[in-house]
Amino acid sequence: KLTNLRFLFLGTNNLQGLIPPVLFNMSSLERFDFESNQLSGSLPQDIGSTLPNLKEFSLFYNKFKGQIPSSLSNISSLERIVLHGNRFHGRIPSNIGQNGCLTVFVLGKNELQATESRDWDFLTSLANCSSLSTVDLQLNNLSGILPNSISNLSQKLETLQVGGNQIAGHIPTGIGRYYKLTVLEFADNLFTGTIPSDIGKLSNLRNLFLFQNRYHGEIPLSLGNMSQLNKLILSNNNLEGSIPATFGNLTELISLDLSSNLLSGQIPEEVMSISSLAVFLNLSNNLLDGPITPHVGQLVNLAIMDLSSNKLSSAIPNTLGSCIELQFLYLQGNLLHGQIPKEFMALRGLEELDLSNNNLSGPVPEFLESFQLLKNLNLSFNQLSGPVPDTGIFSNASIVSLTSNGMLCGGPVFFHFPACPYLAPDKLARHKLIHILVFTVVGAFILLGVCIATCCYINKSRGDARQGQENIPEMFQRISYTELHSATDSFSVENLVGRGSFGSVYKGTFGSGANLITAAVKVLDVQRQGATRSFMSECNALKRIRHRKLVKVITVCDSLDHSGSQFKALVLEFIPNGSLDKWLHPSTEGEFQTPSLMQRLNIALDVAEALEYLHHHIDPPIVHCDVKPSNILLDDNMVAHLGDFGLLHQVCCFLLTPHFQ
Ligand SMILES: *[C@@H]1O[C@H](CO)[C@@H](O)[C@H](O)[C@H]1NC(C)=O
Ligand SMILES: *[C@@H]1O[C@H](CO)[C@@H](O)[C@H](O)[C@H]1NC(C)=O
Ligand SMILES: *[C@@H]1O[C@H](CO)[C@@H](O)[C@H](O)[C@H]1NC(C)=O
Ligand SMILES: *[C@@H]1O[C@H](CO)[C@@H](O)[C@H](O)[C@H]1NC(C)=O
Ligand SMILES: *[C@@H]1O[C@H](CO)[C@@H](O)[C@H](O)[C@H]1NC(C)=O
Ligand SMILES: *[C@@H]1O[C@H](CO)[C@@H](O)[C@H](O)[C@H]1NC(C)=O
Ligand SMILES: *[C@@H]1O[C@H](CO)[C@@H](O)[C@H](O)[C@H]1NC(C)=O
Ligand SMILES: *[C@@H]1O[C@H](CO)[C@@H](O)[C@H](O)[C@H]1NC(C)=O
Repeated sequence: KLTNLRFLFLGTNNLQGLIPPVLFNMSSLERFDFESNQLSGSLPQDIGSTLPNLKEFSLFYNKFKGQIPSSLSNISSLERIVLHGNRFHGRIPSNIGQNGCLTVFVLGKNELQATESRDWDFLTSLANCSSLSTVDLQLNNLSGILPNSISNLSQKLETLQVGGNQIAGHIPTGIGRYYKLTVLEFADNLFTGTIPSDIGKLSNLRNLFLFQNRYHGEIPLSLGNMSQLNKLILSNNNLEGSIPATFGNLTELISLDLSSNLLSGQIPEEVMSISSLAVFLNLSNNLLDGPITPHVGQLVNLAIMDLSSNKLSSAIPNTLGSCIELQFLYLQGNLLHGQIPKEFMALRGLEELDLSNNNLSGPVPEFLESFQLLKNLNLSFNQLSGPVPDTGIFSNASIVSLTSNGMLCGGPVFFHFPACPYLAPDKLARHKLIHILVFTVVGAFILLGVCIATCCYINKSRGDARQGQENIPEMFQRISYTELHSATDSFSVENLVGRGSFGSVYKGTFGSGANLITAAVKVLDVQRQGATRSFMSECNALKRIRHRKLVKVITVCDSLDHSGSQFKALVLEFIPNGSLDKWLHPSTEGEFQTPSLMQRLNIALDVAEALEYLHHHIDPPIVHCDVKPSNILLDDNMVAHLGDFGLLHQVCCFLLTPHFQ
C-alpha cells in the first residue's frame, strides 16, 4: 500500500519462503533488494511491466529458481541486475542490454544455459550498454563458442568473469582494449588457442585466471607489463616454452600458478626473486630443468612453494632457508641431489615438507625433530643415510615417511630400520650417564662415573667438532618499538620479570588467539657505558647460534622510543620456570621445590651440552664467561636453557680467534 515507496532493502536477513506477489506490483520501486536470505520461488514473467522504474534488482545468494524473466529487458531505467548464487536456469534474455543503461550484470553461480549461438545474443545486446563495468557469468552451464562480440563491450569494463562453464573458442585479440579491467576470469572452460599478447595491455589487471583450459603455445612476454597483477593463474593448460623472465616486473604479484603445463627450460632468476609473492608459487608438473637459483632466498614472504614433478637438478640452495614464512614446501619428484641444507633449521613454520623422489643424500637432519607444526614430512625415495632421529615428530608414524632410502638406521621401531652401528655422540653420553646413575651403587661411584662418562663424551664429540659451523643467515625479522610497547602493556611493572645492571626483562605477549606467543623482552639500559657494544655482541652472537639448550632469540629491536631516545631490546624465548638460582635458593619457603639429584644431573648435562655447542660447533667459538645459576633458565620439563651472552659484562668476552681451541 506504500504507493510511493522507492527503496526496499531487506537484504542480509533470514527471510524464507516466497516474496509476497504484491511486492512485485509496487510500480514506484527503484531498488528491489533481497540479497542474502533464503528466499525461494520464481520471478513473475511480467516484472518488466509491473516494476517499470527499477534501477537495481538484487537477489543474490537466495534460492530462487525458474527463468530470468525476459521482460526485465523492457525496463528502460535498469542499471544493476545482481542474481548471483541462485538456481536460475534457462537462457539469458537475448535483449537484456537493449535499454543501454546496464552497468552491473551479475548472474554467476546459477544453472543458466547456452548451447546454440543464438543463446549468446544477450552478449551482443550488452554491447549497447556504454557504461557496463561488470559482467559475471561464471559457474553456469554455458557452452558453445564464445562470440567475438565479447570484445565489443563497453571500454569501461572492469570485471569480466566467465569461468566454470563449458565455453569453447579463443580469447579474442580485442580484449586488450578493456584498459580498465581489473579481473579477467576465463578459467575452467574449453578454451583453445594461444593467449593473445594483447592481454599485456591490461595494465590495471589485478587477477588473471586462465587455468584449466586447453591453451597452448608460449606465455606472452607482454604479461610482464601488467604491473598491477596480484594473482596470475595459468595452471592446467598445455602452455609450452619457457617462463618469461619479464614476470620479474610483476612487483605486486602475490600468487603465481603455472603448474601442470608443458613449460620447459630453467626457472628464471627474475621469477624466483619476486619478493612480493606471499601466498603461493606453484610451478609443479612441468618440464622445468636446471638448478633452483639461490635467488629463491628473496621469497621471504612466501607461504606455499611447489616446484614438484619437474626435472630440477643440482643441490637445494642453502638460501631456501631464508624463506622463513614457508608453511608448505614441495620439491618432490625432481633430480635434486646433495644434502638437505642445514639452513632449513630456520623453517620452523613448515607444516608439510616433501622432498621425496629425488636423489638427496646425507643424514636426516636432527633439527626436524622439533618442528612442531610439521604434519607431513616425506623424505622417501632418496639416498639418505645414517641415524634416524627418534623423538619429536619422528616418534609419530603418521607424520614421517622415509621408505626406500638405502642406508638409514635406528629411529623408532615402526620404521623397521636396522640398529645403528653407533649412537650419535651426545646421545651416547646421555644414555651412559643415565645407566650409570641407575645402576651404580653410591655417591662416590656416581661422581666417578660422571667424570669418566663426561670425558668420553667430550672426546667423542671432538671428532665432529667442525659440524654445524656454517654461518646461519640472519633469520630474525625486526620488530618495532610500538609492537613491544603494546606486547608488554607499556612495559608495566606486572610484566617485569627481572632486572639487572644491563636493564630490565619484561614478559610480553604477541599475537592473539591461537597464535598467542609469550616472549621475554630484554630492554637494554642504553645509558650504561658499553651497553651498546654489548648489545651488538649479543646480537652478533645470537645471530649465529641456534641450539635447543640455549635461550632462543626471536627478534631484535633497535630503534627510537616514543620520546625519540635510543631503544634497544632483544625478544627472547620465554622460559616459564624461572632461573636455577631461584630453585636452589628460594627466597620464600615452599615457593620452589629443591631439584632432585637426577634433575641436577640433567641440568648440568644440559648446560654442558650448550657449552660444548658454543665451544666446538660454531665458528668462531663463543665463551660464555658468566655461567651461573641465575643465567640458567628452566622450562616446564625442567630442561635447562643457558641464557645471557655479554649483556651482564662490561668486558666483551667473545673470542674472535680460533686459537682458543
Ligand atoms: C497487481 O496489480 C494488478 C493491477 O494493477 C492486479 O490485477 C493484480 O491482482 C495485482 N497483483 C497482486 C498480487 O496484488
Ligand atoms: C517489451 O515491451 C514491448 C512494448 O512495450 C512489448 O511489445 C514486449 O512484449 C515487451 N517484452 C516483454 C518480454 O515483455
Ligand atoms: C541498442 O540501443 C538502441 C537504442 O538505444 C536500440 O535501438 C537497439 O535495438 C539496441 N541494440 C541492441 C542490440 O540491443
Ligand atoms: C563491434 O562493434 C562494431 C561497431 O560498433 C561493429 O562494426 C562490429 O560489427 C561489432 N563486432 C561484433 C563482433 O559484434
Ligand atoms: C609490453 O611488453 C612487450 C614485451 O615485453 C614490450 O615489447 C612492450 O613495449 C610492452 N608495452 C608496454 C606498453 O609496456
Ligand atoms: C611420500 O612420497 C612418495 C613418493 O613421492 C609417495 O609415493 C608417498 O605416497 C608419499 N607418502 C606420503 C605419506 O605422503
Ligand atoms: C644419485 O646420486 C648418486 C650419487 O650420490 C649417483 O651415483 C647417481 O647417479 C644419482 N642418480 C641419479 C638418477 O641422478
Ligand atoms: C600424529 O600426527 C597426527 C597428524 O599430525 C596427529 O593427528 C596425531 O595426533 C599424532 N599422534 C600422536 C600420538 O602424537
